[in-house]
Amino acid sequence: MEKMWSGRFQKGAAKLLDEFNASIMFDRKLYKEDIEGSIAHATMLAKQGILSKEELASIKEGLAQVEKEIEEGTFEWKISDEDLHMAIEKRLTQLIGDAGKKLHTARSRNDQVATDFRRYVLKANKNIIEGIKALMEAIVVVAEKHTDTLLPGMTHLQHAQPINFAYHLGAYLSMFKRDIERFESSYERNNISPLGCAALAGTPHKIDREYSAKLLGFDGVSVNCLDTVSDRDFALEILFNISTLMMHISRLSEELILWSSYEFKFIELSDEYSTGSSIMPQKKNPDVPELLRGKTGRVYGALVGLLTVMKGLPLAYNKDTQEDKEGVFDAVETAYISLEILKETIATMQVNEKNMLKACKKGHLSATDLADYLVEKCDIPFREAHFITGEAVAKAEELGIDLSDMEYKYLKEIDERIGEDVMSYLSIENSMNARCSQGGTSTQTTKEQLEYFKNYLKEQK
Ligand code: ARG
Repeated sequence: MEKMWSGRFQKGAAKLLDEFNASIMFDRKLYKEDIEGSIAHATMLAKQGILSKEELASIKEGLAQVEKEIEEGTFEWKISDEDLHMAIEKRLTQLIGDAGKKLHTARSRNDQVATDFRRYVLKANKNIIEGIKALMEAIVVVAEKHTDTLLPGMTHLQHAQPINFAYHLGAYLSMFKRDIERFESSYERNNISPLGCAALAGTPHKIDREYSAKLLGFDGVSVNCLDTVSDRDFALEILFNISTLMMHISRLSEELILWSSYEFKFIELSDEYSTGSSIMPQKKNPDVPELLRGKTGRVYGALVGLLTVMKGLPLAYNKDTQEDKEGVFDAVETAYISLEILKETIATMQVNEKNMLKACKKGHLSATDLADYLVEKCDIPFREAHFITGEAVAKAEELGIDLSDMEYKYLKEIDERIGEDVMSYLSIENSMNARCSQGGTSTQTTKEQLEYFKNYLKEQK
C-alpha cells in the first residue's frame, strides 16, 4: 500500500511501524476541524488564483462527501493512513481526482494539525465556560435559600466561627468565576491562526493568511511560523485551567463527602446521584463526589504529561508532539461530564439545617465574640480579653455546655466587668451577623455577594 510520502522509499512500512506511528485512532475526533480548515485553505488558494474556481468547487464537494461518509460511519479509517489529515486527503483524491492533489499546496500537516487542534481547544474553552456558568447558577439557587442557615466555619477542620451556608457556597462561586476568567483569557490569547505557516518557515506561494484566518473565525494570525508549528502552549493552558477547575471541584466534592457522612449529616445526596453497596444493604455512598475527586488525578496527569513531552523539543515540529492530543481530549471530556454531574448533584441534594445548627453548638464558636465584647465594651486589652475568654471556655467545658448556652452568672463570676449585655454577643446567630465587614459572613453581606454573582451571570448572557 502506497504512502503519500513514499516517493523516496524503496520498501513499504512495517506493520509495527504503522501501529506505532499512527494517530488516526484518536485524531479522527478532529475531522470537522480538519475539513473546515481545508475548505478555508482552498478558498484562500482560489482567491489568490492558486486554484481555479472549478477546482475549489470540486474540493468543496468532495470534502462534503467525505464528511458525510464519516458521519454515516462508512468512511474507512485505516491505520496505514497514519493520521486523519492523510486519510481525508487520500479519500478526497479518490473522489475528485487531480484537484484533490492540489489542496496541500502551501500547507503542511504541521500547520494543519496545529490549526485543527487549536480550534478544538478553543471550542472546548467556550464549552467549559458555559458548563461552569450553569454550575454557578445551580449553586446560586441553593445559596439563596440559605443565607441564614448557620454552620460552623472551620480552620484546620476544627470549628472556628459560625458562618452561613450560602456564604460557604459563595466561596466556591468566587473560585468558579476565576476559573471562567482563566478560560476566557486563554481563549483570547490563543485565538490566532497557524494556517499557512506550512512546514516551519512559511511558503513561497502568494497566500493570504489573514483571509483564511478570518474564514475560520480566528482574530488574527500568528507572528512566527517556526514557533507556531511547534507551540503547544494553548493545549497546556487548557490543561492547567482544567486542572485548577478540577482542583476546585475536588475540594467541593471533598466537603460533600464529609457533609454526607454520619459524623456530619449536613446534607443528603439524592438517591439519583448516590450508589449502594453490593454487600451492605444499608449503605448510601457518595460515589459522584468521590469520582470527581478521583478524576482530578487524570487531568493533572495529562498536564504533567504534556509539559514533559514538550520540555526537551528542539524547534520546530517533532513527532513527539503527536502525544499532545489524547490527554487533552480526555481532560476536556472529564471537565464536561464533571461540571454536568456536579451541577445535578448540588441541585438535588438536601440540606439539613438542623444538623448544621446542632454542630454550631459544639466548640464554643462564639468565643471570639466574647473576647471582642471585652475589648469593645469593657476596654480590656485584647490579650487579657483572650485569657478571660479562655477561662469562660474552661468553665463551659466543666459544665458540659457550649459557651453560647452559658448563664450570665458564671460569666460575672469570671470577671465582674462583664455586663448582662454580653448575652447577645454569645448567640451563634449574632456572632455570624456581627461579621458584616466587606466580604464577611453576615446574612446581609452574604446577600450582597450573591447579588454580585447573579449580576455577573446575567451580564454573561
Ligand atoms: N499526526 C501528526 C500529529 O498529530 C500530524 C503532523 C505530522 N507531521 C509530520 N511532519 N510528521 O502531530
